[in-house]
Order: sequence, then C-alpha cells, then structure tokens
Amino acid sequence: MKNQLNETLKRSIEEPDEFWKEQASKLEWNAVPKDILTEENGHSVWFRDGKINLSEQALDIHVRNGSGDRVAMIYDSPVTGTVTKYTYRELLDKVARFAGVLKAQGVEKGDRVIIYMPMIPEAAIAMLGCVRIGAVHSVVFGGFAAHELAVRIDDCQPKVLITASGGIEVDKKIHYIPIVEEAIKQSVYPPHSVIVKQRLQFDTVLPGGWLDFESAVTDADPVDAIPVESVHPSYILYTSGTTGKPKGIVRDTGGYATALRFSMEYIYGVSPGEVFWAASDVGWVVGHSYIVYAPLITGCTTIIYEGKPVRTPDAGAFWRVVEEHGVHVMFTAPTAIRAMRREDPEGSLIRERQLKSLRTQFLAGERCDTPTLLWLRDQLGVPVIDHWWQTETGWPIVATCMGEDHPKERAGAAGKAVPGYAIEIVDESGKEVQVGTEGYVVIRQPLPPGNLLTIWNNPERFKAGYLERFPGYYFSGDGGVIDDDGYITITGRVDDVINVAGHRLSTAEMEEVVATHSGIVECAVVGITDQLKGQVPIALIVTTSGVGEEIEKEVNQLVRNTIGAIATLKKVYRVKRLPKTRSGKILRNVLRDVLNGREPRIPSTIEDITVVDELKEEL
Ligand code: COA
Ligand code: AMP
Repeated sequence: MKNQLNETLKRSIEEPDEFWKEQASKLEWNAVPKDILTEENGHSVWFRDGKINLSEQALDIHVRNGSGDRVAMIYDSPVTGTVTKYTYRELLDKVARFAGVLKAQGVEKGDRVIIYMPMIPEAAIAMLGCVRIGAVHSVVFGGFAAHELAVRIDDCQPKVLITASGGIEVDKKIHYIPIVEEAIKQSVYPPHSVIVKQRLQFDTVLPGGWLDFESAVTDADPVDAIPVESVHPSYILYTSGTTGKPKGIVRDTGGYATALRFSMEYIYGVSPGEVFWAASDVGWVVGHSYIVYAPLITGCTTIIYEGKPVRTPDAGAFWRVVEEHGVHVMFTAPTAIRAMRREDPEGSLIRERQLKSLRTQFLAGERCDTPTLLWLRDQLGVPVIDHWWQTETGWPIVATCMGEDHPKERAGAAGKAVPGYAIEIVDESGKEVQVGTEGYVVIRQPLPPGNLLTIWNNPERFKAGYLERFPGYYFSGDGGVIDDDGYITITGRVDDVINVAGHRLSTAEMEEVVATHSGIVECAVVGITDQLKGQVPIALIVTTSGVGEEIEKEVNQLVRNTIGAIATLKKVYRVKRLPKTRSGKILRNVLRDVLNGREPRIPSTIEDITVVDELKEEL
C-alpha cells in the first residue's frame, strides 16, 4: 500500500482483530464473540462464535434503553401525499407482529422470503420481521419485470413472497399483482404463500389464497427476536455480474451490524437521535444498509421516501424533505443531482428552503463528475462527499470520513481508503502499479466485517469472480488510480457491468434477452456515456434478411418486458457485421470506443479490420 495511512486505518489493517473487537463491543451481543477473525477458503469470517439479532439491535435495544418514543422512521410519500411517523416502540410492535405472521406461515430460521415492494414502510417492516426470526430476506427492486423476479425466486426458493398492490411512479401506477402472478407461473420453485400490502391507490383483487398484510399483522401475536450465529445469513441481495444470471450476494449478521454501526459514526459522522436520509430504494444495497439497518442500529431517524428528485412535484423535492424533517446527513446518487440541476440550474428551489440542519451530503452508486459535485457544494454550502462501495461490500470502501479529526474531501476523487480496507491498484499480473497509474482496484485479505460471505448457491462463482484473479486479494471489478496523498479515483468497471442512473445492470444479460428475438442473427449490448444517467445501454444487432425497422422497437420492448423499464435501450442500431477476434469473440471495447466517439483500440487478433470502418459509417 503506497497511500498514506492515518492512525485508525493503520491500526485496522495491522491489528484487525483488536480493532474490530473494539467496534463489535458497541453492540449488545446475545453471545459476545471470542473468535474474532478466522479464515475459510482464503476468505475472512468474522465473530464466528458470536450470537446477535439485527432486529433486536435495530429496535428492542432502543426501546429497552428508554428511546421508545423517539421517531425511528418517517414515511414521506409525495406521490400519495402522505407523511407518517413511527416511533421505535411503534415500529417494534409492527415488526414483532409481522414476525408472528411469518411464523404462522411456517417460516423457520434459514428459510428464504422474497420481498417485492415499493418504497413503503411495510417493506422495512417485512425485512426486520424476517431477520427477527432468522429468516433470510431477498428484496427484489420493484422496477424489475416478472422474468427477473422469477429468476430470483428459483435461485433462492422462498417459502413466502411479500408484495404490495403496486408502486407509484411519477406519472403511472405499476400493478405488482400481475407481475407476481406471472413470475410465479414462470418459476419452478414458487413460494408457499404470498402476503400483499393492499394500497388505497389501487383496486386490488387478491388472487385466491393470498393473504392481506394488514389483517395478518393485526391478528398475529408478537414474536421475540431469536439470537442467531454471527455468520448466519441475514439476506441475499441479487446484483448484476458479467453473465446473464444475477448473483445472490450473501450477507452475514454480526459482521454487518458491526461495520454499519462503525460506518455511521466514523464515515457519516452521525450520532444517535439525528436524522439520516438515504434517498435510494430498499431494492438496492444502499437501501438495505442506509435506509433500514444502519440508521436504526445507531438509533437515528430514517426516512422512507416514495418519490423522485424531480417531478414529485419539482426539482426542489429533496430540499423540502430536508427542511421538513430536519435531515442532518443525506445520501443520494449523482444522477439525482444532475436531474435536479438540469431543471433548476440556478438552485432557486434550494434557496427557497431552510436547510440549516444539513451538515453533509454524500453521493455514491456511480462515478460523480466534478462539475456536478462542485455545483451542489456551491448550492448547499456544506461538504459534498463522493464515496465508493458495492453491493458486495455492504458499506463504503473509499470515502472522506466525516468522523475523522480533519476530514478533507477532494473533488474528483472518491476519497481515501476507509479503515478496514487495504487497497492496492495492480496491473494485469497483480503487481502494484506506480502512483498515478490506472489499474485494477483490489483489496488485500482479510476483508473487514460486513462484506459478502459468498454467492448464494454458487461458492465456485464467488471464488472465480472475486478471489482467484489476484490470489490473496478481493477483486472489485473496478478500475482506479491512487495519488501521492492516498486519494483514490474510481474510473469505472473493467467488465461488462454498466451503471444506469445508479442502477447496476449487466450488458451480458441484456444481450441474452435481445438474442431471443427471432429476427436477430447476432448482437452486442454496450454502455455509452450519458449526460444524465452516467451510462445507458445501446444494442447493435445483425438481423436476418427481410427484417424491417420495426425490429428496433420490438427489441427494446423485449428488454423492458423481460428485465424492466430501467434497462430501456437508448438506441438499437442495425449493422451489417460486428467486429470480432479470429476466434469469434465480439470486440466490445472496439464498439464502446466507436460509440463513445473515441479512436478505437484495435487488437492484433481482429478477424477483419474493415468492419471497424464500416461501423464508423453506420453509427
Ligand atoms: N418501479 C417501477 N418502474 C420503475 C421504478 C420502480 N421502482 N424505477 C424506475 N422505473 C421505471 C420508470 O418509470 C421509467 O419507466 P418509463 O421508461 O416507462 O418511463 C424507467 O424505469 C426508467 O426510469 P429512471 O431510470 O428512473 O429514469 P427517469 O428518466 O424516469 O428518471 C431520474 C431519471 C434521474 C430522475 C431517476 O433515474 C432517479 O431518480 N435516479 C436516482 C436513482 C437512485 O437514487 N439510485 C439509487 C442508487 S444508490
Ligand atoms: P452497486 O453494487 O449497485 O452498488 O454498484 C457498485 C458499482 O457502482 C461499483 O463497482 C462502481 O462501478 C460503481 N460505483 C459506486 N459508487 C461509485 C463511486 N463513488 N465512484 C465511481 N463508481 C462508483
């Protein structure tokens, strides 16, 4: 590691056992761990003999400690005109009863439960109800179509599926019941029961045998939290990889709670009783960690926001929430800021609000361009902090830590290594590169607590994807560069994963869907730079003869129907040929270069170089 280590980072790397034992002691364990760090197949396992329960940490403990009347969660929904507040005591009651509903459905420790819900309080109640009894939840983002839901159902084989009548987007309602019915029809291992939160905005007719969320909760007896082993999986969260099949990231329990508690104070600089708002969705890792678990474990007030940065009703939406609820620290994706800047470039809607509570604004989920960051900093007059992490890690890897004595952010970089992470930038052969040279971002083992345990049902993919490429290190899949002062800039994925409006999507998966169209001979999907969304997918298709231009619409519809509207193709180009190597591999880098207006880097293995000129004319 060439970057300068501050004392905390240094200690966390040199004495990880001691460091994390101290952090873990801030939680109330049911069995205090003695076995702090062990290794299993080259990967770190934390607090093996400890026992703890996430729901108890998030709720019961605060009620027991006299904070039962503090507001735990605010549901703020501009799309329905609702603001509802839940104290810790009220939330605990709902969660304990919902755990009772799950028990009554035969859900036992270790059973999986899928949660396919919009941004409503019942999504968090369902998550906390699951972990209360040791059930493993898998939240599926409400923007995914039936096929994606079916793939996840079959991979984790849930006993119960929890859903709602639907979600409300800016200008339309998304009816979930037909999507869930279709997903169940497509799946080989359907859930035994389905529980539905019926919403006033929908006329819901429950299919036979499906249960109503509210009446089930009212009828249920509350259930106490059961202590589970620290390494017991708390959840599976599917994320996009480099193949067509999403991978189920498995999170532990005790390590996760320890890391989240640490991150709230050390990275976000938040104290118990303060208001922390992550404007994301429970379907993503940000929602798991920083809408639900971390703020509640820390005793903060969290916000479930059912709305957008713009159009609900305008580009001042976020600042209304900050003012009304006295948000101290906020977190969102750069795309959201770009969207509001486009509509309110002078920031007049920001100045209409009293934002004196706001101390820090965090951004993550995709690379933040410097003009966006500087614009927001000028508008808000508070530190705007870019930071880098992934579904796999569950909490930040690189950041400017606001809990440090003299935090100093640097626009353009994602910050410095967070305590626990020994980061190196290496070349193809695994050798550390010179400061200032771009390379692969890797993390030396052991990874700190909270990071993924494995991939559900697929330990081989876990090893092959993350551990074997650079032995002794975790491979992040991102490229980056470090400077003399230890600031790290993340330059983007080095694989076929793209990031669209902060949503991680696989171009390989889109290609598989596009290829199912009968008029297509071969295709490629690549990401190109987009001013608003960071990246957007583009499809290049070679069609069978006689196919008309209607195929462009059909292909896009196919992707929207199979994956979801968030994967909408920006454009479908019909081309004569795709550039390939002599062994028949499509040269996606060449396509990316041509589409992004760069001079293409043509490898010597190219089969026919004239294809590139042909493409330049066609695109
Ligand atoms: N359920 C159902 N559909 C959804 C959805 C959800 N939860 N979220 C998005 N969609 C749909 C949209 O309705 C839209 O459908 P359409 O093509 O039929 O109109 C499509 O998916 C694309 O949506 P989106 O990517 O949100 O683009 P947009 O142009 O509607 O909005 C932004 C642009 C910038 C306002 C929006 O992308 C945004 O809020 N981004 C921030 C994302 C974020 O916070 N990510 C968190 C990661 S940490
Ligand atoms: P996800 O797992 O959905 O959170 O997506 C993680 C990926 O998003 C990372 O591997 C990066 O490619 C990208 N990403 C997240 N945060 C940042 C950031 N601050 N800067 C650059 N890229 C980021």
